[in-house]
Amino acid sequence: MSVTSVDIVPQLVRVAVSLDLADYVEVLVADGVDLLSEESRWSLIFADAPAGKWDGLDSTIAALEPGGNSLVDDMTPPEFVSDLHRNKTIEVRETLLSDARLRSVEIDWASGLIICARTGCGSWRLPHGSRGSRLACCVRRDGDSLARHRAE
Ligand SMILES: C[S@@+](CC[C@H](N)C(=O)[O-])C[C@H]1O[C@@H](n2cnc3c(N)ncnc32)[C@H](O)[C@@H]1O
Repeated sequence: MSVTSVDIVPQLVRVAVSLDLADYVEVLVADGVDLLSEESRWSLIFADAPAGKWDGLDSTIAALEPGGNSLVDDMTPPEFVSDLHRNKTIEVRETLLSDARLRSVEIDWASGLIICARTGCGSWRLPHGSRGSRLACCVRRDGDSLARHRAE
């Protein structure tokens, strides 16, 4: 398993990589929207930024492997800071709860969580050797691990 964390601000990434991270964690400077538009597939995506949530939500859903999960927070914040914030939050919530590719559950806890599972996608093939996404946090099994997992 590998964990990829991305942020678009280089200074933040420099701080993160200076920490004592486990060797399966990589931290990259990247734009989450760009990376989620690539062909990589992920076991878990936590889009903790406008990228992949307000912008590119469709790419986030498409980037989940079958059975993969996405966790989205801040769906019912105590207050909205702007009309844009309110409208985007409503849009994201409605998409996550209605998209036919997902099975989602809403949890009334903290700032409001939605946990989604990607449904099966027919004869899906995980691209081998593909590199990961640039979302705030993504977890991926490599192709071989996934194959073993499926065989069990
Ligand atoms: C709510 S913070 C989350 C930070 C981190 N997940 C945490 O819990 O400490 C959102 C982060 O998204 C980053 N960000 C904003 N736009 C981005 C983009 N297009 N691609 C990647 N990261 C982005 C910001 O720099 C910021 O650090």
